[in-house]
Amino acid sequence: MDYKDIKKLMNPQFESFSTYDSMPSNESLIKKYSINSEKIVKLNGNENPFGPHPKVIENISSIPIHTYPDDEYINSRKALAEYTKLEMDNIVVSCGSDELIDLLFRIFVTPGDEVLDFTPTFGMYAVRAELAGAKIIPIARDSNFQLDHYKIKEKINDKTKILFLASPNNPTGNECTDEDVEFLLSLNKILVIDEAYFEFSKKSYSELVKQHKNLIILRSMSKWAGLAGLRVGYGLMSTDLASLSMSVKNPYNVSNIAEQSLIISLEQKSYLMDRISDIIAERESLRKKLSLLSDIYVYPSSANFLLCKVSNVNLEDLNIKLIKDGVFIRLFPSKSLENCFRVSIGTKEENEYFYKVLVNYIQ
Ligand SMILES: Cc1ncc(COP(=O)(O)O)c(C=O)c1O
Repeated sequence: MDYKDIKKLMNPQFESFSTYDSMPSNESLIKKYSINSEKIVKLNGNENPFGPHPKVIENISSIPIHTYPDDEYINSRKALAEYTKLEMDNIVVSCGSDELIDLLFRIFVTPGDEVLDFTPTFGMYAVRAELAGAKIIPIARDSNFQLDHYKIKEKINDKTKILFLASPNNPTGNECTDEDVEFLLSLNKILVIDEAYFEFSKKSYSELVKQHKNLIILRSMSKWAGLAGLRVGYGLMSTDLASLSMSVKNPYNVSNIAEQSLIISLEQKSYLMDRISDIIAERESLRKKLSLLSDIYVYPSSANFLLCKVSNVNLEDLNIKLIKDGVFIRLFPSKSLENCFRVSIGTKEENEYFYKVLVNYIQ
């Protein structure tokens, strides 16, 4: 049987689909541009430059991996209940928040439904919605990347089931407003507020979960707790929806190591929050320095990255020069982010190196 025949057996949805534009691996960039791997400054993944709490690493070798995890994830959900001030029954743990994005589209979208995508935003929403069979309706944000309520109202209809709103938004860095949340909740659809960067912005809508059964909050342990490689996140939602999600997700979706590491991170949150303060201070210091350059505009940010727009330079060429100097930043193919790059906040030394290299090529 060749692939042509195999394709005939597939769900037609998989004949053509968009893929998530994930960042190239360090290895592929090192190989492609013959870079000295010792001088890599990786500022393209919004990862935590300090890594996890040292106790996470110390504990890894003592965590059993020959046994399956507790399928109810009681210990991590209890720890998260304390952290979020909600009940354990409002919480679902997941293999990164990405897993819940996918699961929610699969729960709420039937082929032919429409999903509004508040662009520019996290690319995963459109990709997973399309795989669930949805038609994507992009709705452009305004010049400050805020939502346009009028345009949303115009496009919403019975085929719209679920809305995703990242706050802070990736890659723009801005937060939504209370009015946005009030407006979107009033539309009587499922509203998912993706708070992957909450620990940087400190602004959450999680307490509204108690009043609004159509509200879901997504959180990630990748950014603030430095656990991106372990893949662990969680969702906060009504007890009914949490119970349904628990029944339909993969039973052992979070590994023993990821669950234990989440618990340790929550126990050590004051240390991790101090590192977040360091990242925020670094972000503001880099923002000030970059803002003094004439060929760059830096957008305000409430997250662990900055979105920058360049003028008078070719961004693709600039990116290649930075890669050759060992600095990895993130570019975006979309028209609305033309000439824009996103730089994640690294350690002080990494940010200084990035700035030093950048000013060789930009004024
Ligand atoms: C807005 C947003 N949501 C979700 C995610 C996915 O996070 P996780 O690593 O928990 O899957 C990201 C990752 O970059 C993100 O930027």
